[in-house]
Amino acid sequence: MTEAAGMRTDYCGELRATDVGRQVSVCGWVAKRREHGEHLAFVDLRDHTGVIQCVVHDDTDVRSEYVLRITGTVAPRPEGTVNDKLPTGQIELQDCTVEILSAAEPPPFPLDDRADDVDELVRLRYRYLDLRRERMQKNLRVRAKVNSAIRRSMEAQDFIEVETPMLMPSTPEGAREFLVPSRQRPGDFYALPQSPQLYKQLLMVGGTDRYFQIARCLRDEDLRADRQYEFMQLDAEASFVTQDDVLAFISEAVVAAAEAVTGERPPEIQQITWHEAMDRYGIDKPDLRFGLELVELTAIFSETGFNAFKAPSIKGIKVPGAAADYGRNKLDGLTDRAKASGAKGLVWLKVDEGGTTFTSPVAKFLSEAEVAGLVATFEAEAGDLLLIVADEWANTCEVLGVLRNELGRPPVHEGPYRYVWVVDFPMFVGRDDAGNPKPGHHPFTHPHPDDMDKLESDPMSVRSLAYDLVLNGWELGSGSIRIHEPDLQARIFRLLGISEEEAEKRFGFFLTPFKYGAPPHGGFAFGIDRLTAILAGEENIREVIAFPKPQSGLDPMTGAPTTVDANQLADLGLRTLPKAT
Ligand code: AMO
Ligand code: AMP
Repeated sequence: MTEAAGMRTDYCGELRATDVGRQVSVCGWVAKRREHGEHLAFVDLRDHTGVIQCVVHDDTDVRSEYVLRITGTVAPRPEGTVNDKLPTGQIELQDCTVEILSAAEPPPFPLDDRADDVDELVRLRYRYLDLRRERMQKNLRVRAKVNSAIRRSMEAQDFIEVETPMLMPSTPEGAREFLVPSRQRPGDFYALPQSPQLYKQLLMVGGTDRYFQIARCLRDEDLRADRQYEFMQLDAEASFVTQDDVLAFISEAVVAAAEAVTGERPPEIQQITWHEAMDRYGIDKPDLRFGLELVELTAIFSETGFNAFKAPSIKGIKVPGAAADYGRNKLDGLTDRAKASGAKGLVWLKVDEGGTTFTSPVAKFLSEAEVAGLVATFEAEAGDLLLIVADEWANTCEVLGVLRNELGRPPVHEGPYRYVWVVDFPMFVGRDDAGNPKPGHHPFTHPHPDDMDKLESDPMSVRSLAYDLVLNGWELGSGSIRIHEPDLQARIFRLLGISEEEAEKRFGFFLTPFKYGAPPHGGFAFGIDRLTAILAGEENIREVIAFPKPQSGLDPMTGAPTTVDANQLADLGLRTLPKAT
């Protein structure tokens, strides 16, 4: 139990039958008032710990959400009125004296579970009321536990906390930046950090050795369940370390946070390579809570006469026992989904009674050997549904990855928690309009030492020392070992088609320091909002942020963003165009 002090002796939700006979004072909001006859009323008083029932005189004018201090004696509830669902349900406060600390207008929505069904914009407009609810108070406290556990864990691992600037030069890092106009240099802009990436690497050049920060990051991107404009990272960087060291530091911090919230220490976090993740789950952030793994079928069709299967990579998914559930409409739906994800088509086969033949529009195109090969490889049984895609390896995997998630993925916040490290990400992903390879992580990521000799000859096959941490199919965070050698950095820029002049112009302030002796270093950042949401059992990070922005980005409580007056703009040397109507 927590020590209450100040105006009260106890918290509402913490009183128990063991307190019977004590005179106590509690403070909080009126959750409910019910008339009780004999000139008495029941008032449920709520604070962040819960509610306590108080018996008060019915001439006391208290209404919903009034703020009260009630002094009374803890007594057992009369027989028949005990409420086992409530932690304080055995007791009530009797002989109460009520002090009204604040009156309140009726709240626009009920501040209990019923508010879960209230339009989110209304909840956010009155966030200060929404926050009074048990669910929101619990979430804020989960968040505080996560932050505190992370901080303790990083400190225990010899990391020191350093703050980095919020006003920095514009440096394209991936997402769109928020810009801040300069008053002293009208026409020039600062940018808000998308992450402390550049500064933390300079901290390594500066001999800091092990840095962390619970860092606010800002990105002007479309908002979603797992994205806000501003969000928090555990950001970390360390010198003279290997990839395995970084994974171990971060695993320890994440495990400590999870343990602080759930009371259970998650098992050691497994690693899989990016290639294996794609091959088995069709995605670089695999959700390991369910099966439906991709099954390799290419060899079965090496001499096929079926045109659709004359492709470099053929894979499938077995959905056990699903044949009967999937009628024409649902199968057409899956085919459309596959095509929308880039497939040329989707073959479905229902395993017949007996388990050795298929019902499918394409069954007639398959040879006996192919049918037997499928049955054996899938370990198919009567009633199973088989889904097959043929394409280039990456496409085959990605399409089936989408179908796999669609068919089997539970909501992100449902247990169990399955963490996984995905390592050996490709160094480059796709090519830009000029045909240059594009960086998979960012241009400062170190190539995998075993692939250095393929950088120029076969760049797309080069792996990097970049890694992601995934939880239940959400990317929790990313990191990499960085390039600390100026020569190698120049070589990578050449590959990316960035000229020396352009590199100097865009990243000069960052590259010059590396000429003065940079230690080998690497790091990582994970999204605290995302981890907290999952640990709090929430599907949307907005539920674990005190004052989030809704999907539109417009804050219904403060009205931000707002226009500013002409003088303010003039000071900044800015003029706005008339608003589009
Ligand atoms: P990255 O860009 O992958 O890496 O971001 C790391 C993690 O930050 C979280 N995140 C977000 N959370 C909420 N809203 C957003 N808009 C948002 N964007 C990102 C995610 C993501 O995995 N500097 C590198 C890390 C490094 O290399 O050390 C970086 O920022 O959980
Ligand atoms: P088609 O020969 O294009 O009429 O396709 C015959 C069947 O095979 C249809 O059910 C298509 O959806 C399916 N199909 C076509 N191309 C592919 C492919 N690349 N992978 C999987 N199924 C395919």
